[in-house]
Amino acid sequence: MWSIMVLLSLVLSINVDVSNGGVTSVYVRNPEPSIDMPLEAFPSPPGFNAPEQVHITQGDQVGRSVIISWVTPIKPNPNFVRYWEKGHHKHMARAITTTYRYYNYSSGFIHHATIRRLKYDTLYYYALGHGSVTRRFSFKTPPPVGPDVPYTFGVIGDLGQTYDSNQTIEHTVSNPKGQAVLFVGDLSYADHYPFHDSRRWDTWARFVEKSTAYQPWIWTAGNHELDLAPEIEENVPFKPFMQRYHVPYMASQSTSPLWYSIKRASAHIIVLSSYSAYGKYTPQYRWLEGELQRVDRSETPWLIVLLHSPWYNSNNYHYMEGESMRVMFESWFVQSKVDVVFSGHVHSYERSERVSNVQYNITNGLSVPAKDPSAPIYITVGDGGNIEGLANNFTEPQPRYSAFREASFGHAILDIRNRTHAHYTWHRNQDSEPVAADSLWLYNRYYYPEEENTGASTMV
Ligand SMILES: [Fe+2]
Repeated sequence: MWSIMVLLSLVLSINVDVSNGGVTSVYVRNPEPSIDMPLEAFPSPPGFNAPEQVHITQGDQVGRSVIISWVTPIKPNPNFVRYWEKGHHKHMARAITTTYRYYNYSSGFIHHATIRRLKYDTLYYYALGHGSVTRRFSFKTPPPVGPDVPYTFGVIGDLGQTYDSNQTIEHTVSNPKGQAVLFVGDLSYADHYPFHDSRRWDTWARFVEKSTAYQPWIWTAGNHELDLAPEIEENVPFKPFMQRYHVPYMASQSTSPLWYSIKRASAHIIVLSSYSAYGKYTPQYRWLEGELQRVDRSETPWLIVLLHSPWYNSNNYHYMEGESMRVMFESWFVQSKVDVVFSGHVHSYERSERVSNVQYNITNGLSVPAKDPSAPIYITVGDGGNIEGLANNFTEPQPRYSAFREASFGHAILDIRNRTHAHYTWHRNQDSEPVAADSLWLYNRYYYPEEENTGASTMV
């Protein structure tokens, strides 16, 4: 009996020792399925050939330019945008107009107009269409890039177009502080349907318009953007996505819209493609190598990376899918003191400790992530609410690198205050927007590399 108790206590103590990762939230979301809103929920706006699916993104490296994109369903014209400041005369910019075919689908006329030389920190109005079918929108340009410029980003991933997705968007839009959205990939989930029904790209763009027409969304490509379907002879990767969503990749010396960077306020944001080649000598590898050299922390103290497939994920869904990219680039991120990496892909929420796993060399056995003050925090927000449902099967015990995890839908807010501090929060859809289910003061790795209170103090 005594020996059994000793053995039991030993087992228990081992359990405590190995399972002292962070917090697995006790919040349990109702496990109802995620159902797409019907196609009819998002009809074209009224009026002949009315402009629709309006979205904007940053159009240059520093925020003085905006790409305005929209679709006209029937005719290519008018293909220009008028824009103005209140009380000032109107300017006009003409769009590049494209169409594409995907199996038996023909797109509307997709327009991309880049408007340039805007004033910083200024409200602009813009109008699309003409006559009775004119639609008006507005956006505010960011302040000039600088080291102590506050700025607030929303962060969304894996959104789709379910009723849960709708909650995520409504919450994000209701947040009065959000000024731009960092989107970490997997937009419409059109590929969930037979023949990758591209009508779902149209409904998705109409669905998110209430946000994307007014705030720039910074786009990252996920696996659902690949749209590869060799059985119907659709073999061009990212075809609908790249036709519909333009980004300012050439401004950051990139050769592909799938990886690029922007500067916005006090942040330098690097976007990577988990589904493009990144091995040594590839274009993405060489671009990232140079790009990290170009980051100037005296200008942009906050270094943020967006990529779709997470490197640190303790969910059985998509476990280790980001591993090969981590092996390629993690040491660079540590050397460059990346502050935070946002990912999606896993339909759940997770935040890591500051860890790295860069010592491993095949023979030395050093394969356990170690605390590292120069490492990023890795945040997975693949919890936008798409049709594939929640990833609610975490690995057990919770690994030490995992500070907080919860299988709920939601979004995050990154509220940069100055060069040293940013307040980060995660909001589950079931709560009202002011409630943060997870929060953290992030300390800048370059200017204030102190240890944060991550909520789990057992990492050694
Ligand atoms: Fe994904």
